[in-house]
Amino acid sequence: MELDKQSSWVERSLRSVWHPCTQMQHHAPGDKHVPLIPVSHGRGAWLYDHEGRRYLDAISSWWVNLFGHANPRINAALKDQLDRLEHAMLAGFTHEPVVELSERLSALTGHVLGHSFYASDGASAVEIALKMSFHAWRNSGQADKQEFVCLQGSYHGETIGALAVTDVALFKDAYGPLLRSCHVVASPDARQAAGDETAADVARRAAADVARLFAERGRHIAAIIVEPLVQCATGMAMHDPLYLTLVRELCERHQVHLILDEIAVGCGRTGTFFACEQAGIWPDFLCLSKGISGGYLPLSLVMTREEIYQAFYSSDVRRGFLHSHSYTGNPLACRAALATLDIFQEDDVLAANRVRAARLTGALAPLARHARVRNFRQRGMIWAFDAVDAAPDFSRRFFAAAVERELLMRPIGPTVYMMPPYILSEAESDGLAARTLAVFEHVIGA
Ligand SMILES: Cc1ncc(COP(=O)(O)O)c(C=O)c1O
Repeated sequence: MELDKQSSWVERSLRSVWHPCTQMQHHAPGDKHVPLIPVSHGRGAWLYDHEGRRYLDAISSWWVNLFGHANPRINAALKDQLDRLEHAMLAGFTHEPVVELSERLSALTGHVLGHSFYASDGASAVEIALKMSFHAWRNSGQADKQEFVCLQGSYHGETIGALAVTDVALFKDAYGPLLRSCHVVASPDARQAAGDETAADVARRAAADVARLFAERGRHIAAIIVEPLVQCATGMAMHDPLYLTLVRELCERHQVHLILDEIAVGCGRTGTFFACEQAGIWPDFLCLSKGISGGYLPLSLVMTREEIYQAFYSSDVRRGFLHSHSYTGNPLACRAALATLDIFQEDDVLAANRVRAARLTGALAPLARHARVRNFRQRGMIWAFDAVDAAPDFSRRFFAAAVERELLMRPIGPTVYMMPPYILSEAESDGLAARTLAVFEHVIGA
């Protein structure tokens, strides 16, 4: 009976749903078949299907889930909020959850950043930051600052503006004719270290590329957008915090805005609440999404410096930031975010994660020294390594083999990574490491 239910959801989904970031034909029967798993419910770090099989969500459902599925504290906050206010438009109205969330986030930056502007998805936050940067310069009499800079291998989302500052060919190439061109500078990816170069040397070299570009085009450049510490979607490329410090200095010297996209790396993922804290800097715009609502509801926001806010503050309506989304500042999403921040505070999550991270790193030692593994790396609650001599279909085969062993993992090309929720028990950590090794060896045929 349950088996029938499972296959019926698969069939109905394939008939009616266009799944994201997927070549739908890969779900058809055949040699490229990739399983489609109907989820019945979730609890803690696990997702369950209709046959009662479970899957450890080792990638936090696309990096959003921080404290497990069906978290009792976030559930309770949402149930309470549901009976008060599900939604109200944010133009001309305001409400407790959005005010409190904005205040608390600003406090987390020591009030360097404030006036959060809200949207729903990460890509929308990126669009907002790009538009705001250009418009702030225009309002300040520098309308010729119209160009943007992104990093090699950067990923900032799939909408037209965000894709223009993304450098992942697979996502971008088909839409080339639709996109505004932008400057692409060297990535500080520490894997590029040659000989006895350190990660800091690579960071200096990459920052020198920015310096060259700013010296030449600075007058026309509005902003540089950076994923601080880890460029996730390109394959968990990690860099030294020094890069951020150097780029911040260059931005000041050449009057270029710094946009930090902390959509994937914010909310404790790299070991500090904001990744940029590890470089001792703050940007002009900080984009946040994914984990901020605990992985419950679509919520994104852009935090800004006071100078940016003031550039729009005027009696002239056209100098205002006339951008909006219907669900901007949705009270339910903001309440989920407040419950998420409560958990950070009450459970001293960043300290607990240090212990959790050490345990998983230890358990992953056999993989770190595996003959077919290169560049084993870790920052905070992100682990990654590159498979040596991986077949072109490595990622797809790994996903299929992982679900057979109760794991949800989706390598990026030859890069296997883990971004688990911040609740893994010791047994779950050890199990994750052991099963990842088993899946890896199975797929590479070791
Ligand atoms: C760094 C970064 N920026 C932006 C986005 C886009 O966010 P969304 O998928 O919510 O539009 C992502 C998504 O993975 C991301 O990792």
